[in-house]
Amino acid sequence: MIASTQVGIIGAGPSGLLLSLLLRRNGVDSVVLERRSREYVEGRIRAGLLESATVELLREAGVGTRMLQEGLVHDGFELAFGERLHRIALKELTGKSVLVYGQTEIQRDLACAAEQVVWEVDNLRPHGIDGNEPRIIYTKDGATHELRCDFIAGCDGFHGASRASIPVNRIRLFEQVYPFGWLGVLADVPPLHHELVYANHARGFALCSMRSATRSRYYLQCPLDADVKDWPDDRFWEELTARLPRALGARLQTGASIEKSIAPLRSFVAEPMRFGRLFLVGDAAHIVPPTGAKGLNLAAADVRVLFTALVDHYRAGSSQLLDEYSARALARVWRATRFSWAFTTLMHRLSDDPFAQRLQLAELEYLAESRAASTAMAENYVGLPFPK
Ligand code: APR
Ligand code: PHB
Repeated sequence: MIASTQVGIIGAGPSGLLLSLLLRRNGVDSVVLERRSREYVEGRIRAGLLESATVELLREAGVGTRMLQEGLVHDGFELAFGERLHRIALKELTGKSVLVYGQTEIQRDLACAAEQVVWEVDNLRPHGIDGNEPRIIYTKDGATHELRCDFIAGCDGFHGASRASIPVNRIRLFEQVYPFGWLGVLADVPPLHHELVYANHARGFALCSMRSATRSRYYLQCPLDADVKDWPDDRFWEELTARLPRALGARLQTGASIEKSIAPLRSFVAEPMRFGRLFLVGDAAHIVPPTGAKGLNLAAADVRVLFTALVDHYRAGSSQLLDEYSARALARVWRATRFSWAFTTLMHRLSDDPFAQRLQLAELEYLAESRAASTAMAENYVGLPFPK
């Protein structure tokens, strides 16, 4: 079967759905094609920290109501090292806050609002992306379909088909894989602290985050070959307590985990983020390690640049903003890649090298004593503006 639309969107993660909603609000048609079922996509648990610019964009897309009701405004967070705590006062230092609201909830809000989504497609391939008549061929329930469009947005994540369809000599990949992962636990227990706590400890990094006043999200740095089966809840809570300052650890409330998973950490950027009529968006073009939770915020920033360019193209007939998409998105991507890498490097146990550990300590002490250093961290954490 042959169908047509203005923008063919591959992937119904946050990038694809948000792009589709913003386009529709501005009179541009799109169809979203997703490999998985809606239930599967909504069941994925990811980070949950939104920059104010992301909050604004979600509101603009018409999905702000529940987020603003249920999200928790955070004006700061704690850095723990040894027995010390240093609060990064986001609001005081930058005038901005962040919103704690799970990506699982965002995904649900977006999927409820989205209209043109085809779930559970197979064998999807973009075609003709270097010409003027791009199309997406896929199968659904055994039948082959062709979606003709003016542009394709590749919002299909790190393992998707979009980036893979660009000739290898037309794209450059930058990558760093970290020698550890994060073991995450979700539990219906009140959060350890009213703000997030990032802990640097000789036993490894730990993060105490939350989803609500009654649901907590905790992470432990773990070896790459760790297996969740070796981490029963008791062991997890014991290890988390050991990595926190004693006074904080003593307050930890434990309970049965409702989810437990291990994720590897990676930095990755693909340049440019466009080939012909295919535009890469979000995780399809870049991955950051989760320290600082920039992944979703970067994806939202790409969406903002691309939807503005597409709307301008359809309204004014100009391709200038589309031509600038890759450079504008990448300028911000690299700054967030740098911050995520630096925050990861500062907080994790990188090796047994005591020299590296002393350098981390020196930097944490400097952060604790210098308003300028704390401001630099806060500016990055709340989200940098678009470079000029
Ligand atoms: N055909 C169709 N859909 C595909 C294909 C394919 N060949 N390959 C992947 N997909 C779908 C995936 O099933 C997934 O639902 O594309 C979607 C990509 O979604 P995400 O991985 O969430 O990527 P993105 O929307 O860019 O999200 C950016 O949110 O999910 C987080 O870690 C992510 O924080 C980052 C942010
Ligand atoms: C989370 O709540 O999952 C989270 C929060 C902050 C981070 C990373 C993850 O830096």
